[in-house]
Amino acid sequence: MTLHGQTFVVTGAASGIGAATAALLRDAGAEVIGVDRNTAADFRGVFVQADLSSAEGVAAVAEQIPERIDGLLNIAGVPGTAPWRLVLSVNVFGVRDLTRALLPKLVPGGVVVNLASNVANGWAERRDQVIAFTSTADREAALDLVGADPEITGNSYRFSKECVRWLSLEAASSALGKARVVSVSPGPVQTPILEDFKVDHGRDKVEGAVALLGRAGQPADIAHAIGFLVSPEAAWIHGTDVCVDGGLSAHRAAADSLSVTA
Ligand SMILES: NC(=O)c1ccc[n+]([C@@H]2O[C@H](COP(=O)([O-])OP(=O)(O)OC[C@H]3O[C@@H](n4cnc5c(N)ncnc54)[C@H](O)[C@@H]3O)[C@@H](O)[C@H]2O)c1
Repeated sequence: MTLHGQTFVVTGAASGIGAATAALLRDAGAEVIGVDRNTAADFRGVFVQADLSSAEGVAAVAEQIPERIDGLLNIAGVPGTAPWRLVLSVNVFGVRDLTRALLPKLVPGGVVVNLASNVANGWAERRDQVIAFTSTADREAALDLVGADPEITGNSYRFSKECVRWLSLEAASSALGKARVVSVSPGPVQTPILEDFKVDHGRDKVEGAVALLGRAGQPADIAHAIGFLVSPEAAWIHGTDVCVDGGLSAHRAAADSLSVTA
């Protein structure tokens, strides 16, 4: 794979999957503009330190991005151990608003990759809430829509990634013939956020899943999938979610089906 002459914006580039993806793209010859609230020591490329949780932070990033980019990789994210408003602000509004701000800078045939999660596989069950939330431009008004629903505020990470699945589908449909949009849904990956998932989703559940799979995913497992998705070889992959979870979702779906037929 060669990405010489191409420029990618990678959010969450200071850690985990974002850092691994930035390194992989650079190794393939691309220019990388990393974005993160934290600094990244020895980052090879342009680095924009910014907080994507606010509209102002997103606008400040967009201003610093050149007029022509080949791809936007929305990888920054916070876990459900953070306050629910922050989770939805970074994971949903950050993705939605940065994508809208940078789409005009995307070259024809450019690509957007959004990090979702396999915890969002049931996103269509909350389709109406997801669409109402993501289509409300005013952030406070959107947060007010869901603030009284403990099913959402108590599972803010899952809801945030359900919104990312929908935003990806919606953007893919709007961008048909102009740019590609895909989401990537990892299972448990060994990064700093995994400890928070153990608190949020239950230690036994997360550690049980890792034991079942034989190992946790590594940032490189996800970065390689993203690297392929942004490459010219993936030109016909558009508007879909790519599950990269070691088979966890397949196992759960099969187990659910067997329990129904048993
Ligand atoms: N690790 C997993 O098990 C897993 C599983 C499914 C999905 N994901 C998703 O993958 C993405 C990457 O996560 P990771 O595993 O690399 O975690 P990570 O914690 O290593 O990296 C997340 C990065 O996002 C940055 N970030 C958070 N809030 C920000 C803000 N307001 N502004 C700018 N940057 C901000 C953090 O500083 C950090 O560098 C996230 O969206 C996460 O939800 C991770």
